[in-house]
Amino acid sequence: MCGITGFTGKSRALPFLLQGLEKLEYRGYDSAGVTLVGTEELKTWKEKGRLSVLEEKLDIAHCPQRCGIGHTRWATHGIPSNLNAHPHNNMDNTISIVHNGIIENYVELRADLEAKGFVFASETDTETVAHLLDFNYRETGNMRDAVYATIAGLEGSFALCIVSCYDPETIYVAKKENPMIVGKTGDAAFCASDATGLLSLTKDVLPLDDGQIAILKPGSIELTDFAGKALEQNWIHIPYDMEAAQKGGYDSFMMKEIHEQPDAVRETLRGRFDKNDRIRMDEIDALEISWERLRRVYFIACGTAYHACIYARTLFDRYADIDSFVMPASEFRYGTPKLDADTLCVFVSQSGETADTLAAVKLANEKGAATAAITNVLGSSISRTADVTLYTAAGPEIAVASTKAYTTQIVLLICLIMKLAEKTGFVIPDYAHLVADMKRLPQILTEILKLEDTVGQLADMLKEQRDAYFIGRQLDYPTALEGALKLKEVSYVHADAYYAGELKHGPIALIEKDTVVVAMATQPEVAAKTMSNIQETIARGARIILITDSTIPAERFEYVLRVPAVREELAGIAAVVLLQLFAYFTAKEKGCDIDKPRNLAKSVTVE
Ligand code: M6R
Repeated sequence: MCGITGFTGKSRALPFLLQGLEKLEYRGYDSAGVTLVGTEELKTWKEKGRLSVLEEKLDIAHCPQRCGIGHTRWATHGIPSNLNAHPHNNMDNTISIVHNGIIENYVELRADLEAKGFVFASETDTETVAHLLDFNYRETGNMRDAVYATIAGLEGSFALCIVSCYDPETIYVAKKENPMIVGKTGDAAFCASDATGLLSLTKDVLPLDDGQIAILKPGSIELTDFAGKALEQNWIHIPYDMEAAQKGGYDSFMMKEIHEQPDAVRETLRGRFDKNDRIRMDEIDALEISWERLRRVYFIACGTAYHACIYARTLFDRYADIDSFVMPASEFRYGTPKLDADTLCVFVSQSGETADTLAAVKLANEKGAATAAITNVLGSSISRTADVTLYTAAGPEIAVASTKAYTTQIVLLICLIMKLAEKTGFVIPDYAHLVADMKRLPQILTEILKLEDTVGQLADMLKEQRDAYFIGRQLDYPTALEGALKLKEVSYVHADAYYAGELKHGPIALIEKDTVVVAMATQPEVAAKTMSNIQETIARGARIILITDSTIPAERFEYVLRVPAVREELAGIAAVVLLQLFAYFTAKEKGCDIDKPRNLAKSVTVE
């Protein structure tokens, strides 16, 4: 969502701030700004729109300042505008801040500050912090004390960077429930809201935990809690480089990431099978739970990751005699989940930062359930909050539309289910065959990607369409949901997904001549039933694109795509790649901004 960069050192700050913000552009934003620090005054520039608009206003070559902060904003409180853009400054421009998150008590704070004579320039919750710092500086007479006093007065969530001309070489960084990462070299220290923003300078980073303040000075970082007590620093090494975050030979990150799936799945499976071909999952072995007493399992996530959870729950429910539930994280928090020590909650999140999912993990922790996270980002907030974390090895996913994260999540969820079978004693039929096919998955995905051109031609059918419908039963249903989400997300074609058997209970009223129906029939047990539902739509004039397995007869259909022979539990992993390609080509035909669809952000760090 919003992006933050900060730099203090012996060289110019602006180049790092701007290139860091550029790397964070993929998170989505509507305005950008920077503050550079001098001893007499701060200089702040901010503009609504893309970073390039800000850059046009800056005289980049003539900004010698060695300390500064930058921000890309995605509006939450107050419309996108120059005034609401960050940084926000105090009245005499001696203190400047950037902020991700929401200050929940800003209404009270603002009223109090206004009563004391502070004049606000924006509608944001963030500006309150700048004036509160000013107030506390006047009270305490030094910036460090003002920062601690201010943080103590804030409620809500924040990743904050604070600079001032009272302390012109220092950046104060505070973190609560929003990601923030710091790093240093011999003569500089810097920060960003995402490791991608730092990778040009270092791969060794210190992700801050909730309740921490980092004080950055050229070449040094001091870490304390909110009360000022010194803390141990747990540095980690980021195993990928900037090059991995470039587009390679593809025209978009989405297409590159679709093609990375064979490798991403291979890497995610690496080390997961022991020498007897049983699942190795030390993380689950380490979980403190009494497996004999396990009564229920929840699968919880948002968006695409939620679809991966539906897939997992469908499979788990097929094999295990333990109650299982799947819930979007935004509902889980406000519902009445049954959480106790005999409950396992599995949270799935590519970014590891999704606010609703993070809050759901905290809720489950509070209620004493065992919590396991599946995420793609090392050191992310969710990974540090859950009891244990299993990492997908998809590499950085830059396109807003999630692709390789989804397939790797399903792969890891299936490994988890196999591990749970071992822990709790339920049986997965023909386990050895399943393992053999899982090991073949990278090859199967490579094969399915060869259908790219055929999918490209079919996508032509959709570019003029207003609507499309995706249908499937059992494990084909989450694939249909994900196909519909992908299509609407990147191509803006309205798409809905239904259980195939539900069509005749209402949605079939929408089917008319030439309506496109993408039908999934990869599950032999229910394929015949789905075929009947397809006929019902054909009778109303629908054009069918059928995605099926290698065995199900489908001669009478004009447009058929087949997934290679594979165990039915894994067919959805191959089939969804076709739907991702379908969405990509439709968006391309329509000239959409594939990697940055309108209104969407990569990481949704607000409720
Ligand atoms: O980072 P997360 O997996 O927690 O993100 C969850 C959703 O916001 C995300 O999957 C979203 O639905 C994607 N844009 C879908 O392509």
